[in-house]
Amino acid sequence: MKRLCVGLIGYGTVGQGVVKILKSSRAVFRKKYGCDFHVKTIVDRIIHKKPTAELNARYSKRPADVLGDPDIDIVVELIGGKQPAKSIVESALASGKDVVTANKDLIANHGIELFALANRTGRHLYYESAVGAGIPIIKTISEGIAGNGFDAVYGIVNGTCNFILDEMTTKQCSFADALKDAQRKGYAESDPTLDVNGVDSAHKIAILANLAFGKLVRVRDVHTEGITHISATDIAFAEQMDLRIKLLAIAKKDGRSLDVRVHPTLISTRHSLASIHGIFNAVYLKADKLGNAMLSGEGAGQMSAASGVVSDLINCANAPAGPINANNPEQVKGLTLRGIDNIECKFYIRVQAKDEPGTLAQITTILGRAGIGINSVQQAVHEVAAFVPVILLTDYTTERTLRRALNAIQALSNIKGKPVAIRMETLW
Ligand code: HSE
Repeated sequence: MKRLCVGLIGYGTVGQGVVKILKSSRAVFRKKYGCDFHVKTIVDRIIHKKPTAELNARYSKRPADVLGDPDIDIVVELIGGKQPAKSIVESALASGKDVVTANKDLIANHGIELFALANRTGRHLYYESAVGAGIPIIKTISEGIAGNGFDAVYGIVNGTCNFILDEMTTKQCSFADALKDAQRKGYAESDPTLDVNGVDSAHKIAILANLAFGKLVRVRDVHTEGITHISATDIAFAEQMDLRIKLLAIAKKDGRSLDVRVHPTLISTRHSLASIHGIFNAVYLKADKLGNAMLSGEGAGQMSAASGVVSDLINCANAPAGPINANNPEQVKGLTLRGIDNIECKFYIRVQAKDEPGTLAQITTILGRAGIGINSVQQAVHEVAAFVPVILLTDYTTERTLRRALNAIQALSNIKGKPVAIRMETLW
C-alpha cells in the first residue's frame, strides 16, 4: 500500500469537494489503486468549514507549512490566478513534490516553464480540472488516444456562455436577461466578465492546443471574442436556417499552420456539439487515427472539478518515477500560428437594408467585387418596414477581405447600422 501525504492549498468549493471524495472513497482507493491518501495540511486564508476530525488534518494560513514539510508528497494547488499560485507550484516542484492544480490561468500562461521545471526535478504536474473540470480531456489527449495526431479540437469549454446562449435560443430572451438568469442560478460568477468575454475559453483552448499540437500557444495568441454582442434576432434567424450559435474554442491545423481562436460560431443544428445544452461542456476531437470523437459533461461545479483533481492524485500515486509526463506538451518544430486576418471562414452576415429595388444588387456587387461567393440570401419578407433584415451566407473568405467588404456595405446610403458578421464552421 502506497501512503501518500497531501497538502491542500486553497480550501474553497473545489478543495472541500476533494476532501469529501478522499474521505468517502478511501476504502475503494486502497483496494482498487493500492494507495492511501492522507491530507496532512490544509492551507487557506480563512478556513470556512473544518473537515471532520476523521481527516485528522491540521490547518494553516501559511503555504510554507505545506511547502517546507518533507512528509508531504503531493501539493494540490486550488487557489487559482497567477500569483501566489505560480510561486507555490514552483516551490513545490523544486522541493521534490508532485503537484496537482486546477488552475487554467496558471497552466495557460506559465505551463511551459512549469513543465520544464517538473521535468528537471523529475516530478509530476497534473492539471485535468483546468479544462472542462472533471471531463477527462487532458488524459484523453495525452494518454487515452496517445499515438494520434490531431487535425482539429473544437470545444464548448465555458458553461456560463453555453447556458446563456442556450437560454437565448430556447426562451428567445436577450443576453442581459439570460445572464441575470445564469447569475440567479449561481452558474455565472458575480463578475462574469472573464466568462462572457471569452477569456476563460481562451485559457482552456491554449492549454488544449499546446497539448494536442505540441505548439506553444500563449493566451495573447488566441483571437478572442465573447458573446456580449450576440442578439436574439441572429439566434432566431440562424435557427430558421438549421444553424446554432455556440461559443467555440477552436484549434485547427492546416498543413504546417495552426489557428487558435475563440468566437461565437454558427454550426449545423445536426452536429453533436449543437446538442450540448445548459452548463455542459464538450470537446470534439478530429484525431487522425481514432477519427472524430466527443467528450461531454459538467465542465464546472464542486464535484466535477474535485473528480478531476482526485483522478490526478491517483495518477501521481501510480505514475512511474522520473521525468516522463505524458501530459507535458512536446514542442514540435515548424508549426506556425496563423493570425485571424488570414483565416478562411464562411460567414453569416445580417444587414438592415432599405426595402427598395436595387439594394440587394448593390450588396451582392460589393461582395462579388471582393471575390466573396454567396451561398444563400434571405429577406424577412413578412416585415412591412422601411428597413428590413437581409441575411447572406457567404462561401469561404478571409477575415481581412470580409471586413473591407462590410465597410463598403455599411457606407451604402440604403444600409442602416453596422452589419453583423458571425463565422460559420463545418465540423464534419
Ligand atoms: N467559469 C467557468 C465556466 C468554470 O463557466 O465554465 C470554471 O472553469
